[in-house]
Amino acid sequence: MLKIKGLHYHPATSNQPVLKKVSLQASCGKPTIIAGPSGSGKTSLVEIISGLVTPQKGTLFWGNKALNSRQRRSRCGVVFQFPERHFLGLTVGQELRLGHRRLSSDNQFNALKRVGLSRIDLRQAPERLSGGEQRRLAIAVQLLREPSVLLLDEPTAGLDWSVRNEILDLLKELSKDKILIVVTHEPELFRSSSNTSFELFEGELIPTSTLPKAKKAI
Ligand SMILES: Nc1ncnc2c1ncn2[C@@H]1O[C@H](COP(=O)(O)OP(=O)(O)OP(=O)(O)O)[C@@H](O)[C@H]1O
Ligand SMILES: [Mg+2]
Repeated sequence: MLKIKGLHYHPATSNQPVLKKVSLQASCGKPTIIAGPSGSGKTSLVEIISGLVTPQKGTLFWGNKALNSRQRRSRCGVVFQFPERHFLGLTVGQELRLGHRRLSSDNQFNALKRVGLSRIDLRQAPERLSGGEQRRLAIAVQLLREPSVLLLDEPTAGLDWSVRNEILDLLKELSKDKILIVVTHEPELFRSSSNTSFELFEGELIPTSTLPKAKKAI
C-alpha cells in the first residue's frame, strides 16, 4: 500500500502553495481517481509521488517504509498526458526497447499482451497506430519497468468515446495487481466502477463523497 502524509508543495516561483496537507492511501483493486480543475495541482501531485519533484513537507510510505525520491522513481511508472507526443522509437519494437536494450521477446510480448496489443506489428511506426493503441503502447512501455505504482495523467484526454471505454476497462484490469493513480478532468467516466475518488480543491485533497456539490470540480 502507498501512503502519503502531509504533503506541502510551494514552488519558489509560485505566490501560493500548490498542495497543502495532502494525505492519501492507495492500494490495488481499483484505480484511485484524483480530479480537480485546471491548475489545481494534479500533475504536480503525480510528479511528487513519482519522485520527479521534491515537496517542502510530507512523507511517502510503501507499507511502513518511508521512500526517498530515488526510491519513488524506481517504484513508479508515469504515463504523462498525451504520451504519444513523446514517442522516440521509429518502430513499436524500438519504442519498447528504449531503456531496455536487452529486452527479451517474452517480456516484450507479455507487456504488449497485458495492454491488449499482442497482435501488433513491431516494425510499425508508433505514429501509425490508432489513438487508443498509442495510449496502450505508452502504458506497455511503463509496465516493462515493473512499477509497483502506475500513475496516469489524463489517460482518456483526446480519445473518442468508444476508445475511452476501452482504456477504462484496461485500467480497471491493470489495477487488480498494481496500484493505479489516475488524475483526470473527467472523474464521471470512472464513477460507475465505484473507485476511490478524491478532488483537489484549493490545494487540499478531499474525498469526493465528503465534498459539497457546489464545490465539485467538474
Ligand atoms: N515549478 C512550478 N513553478 C511555479 N508554479 C508551478 C510549478 N509547478 C506547478 N505550478 C503551478 O501550480 C498550479 C498547479 O499546476 P498543475 O500543472 O499541477 O495543475 P493541473 O491540475 O495538472 O492542471 P491541468 O488540469 O491544466 O493539467 C498551477 O497554477 C501552476 O502554474
Ligand atoms: Mg496537469
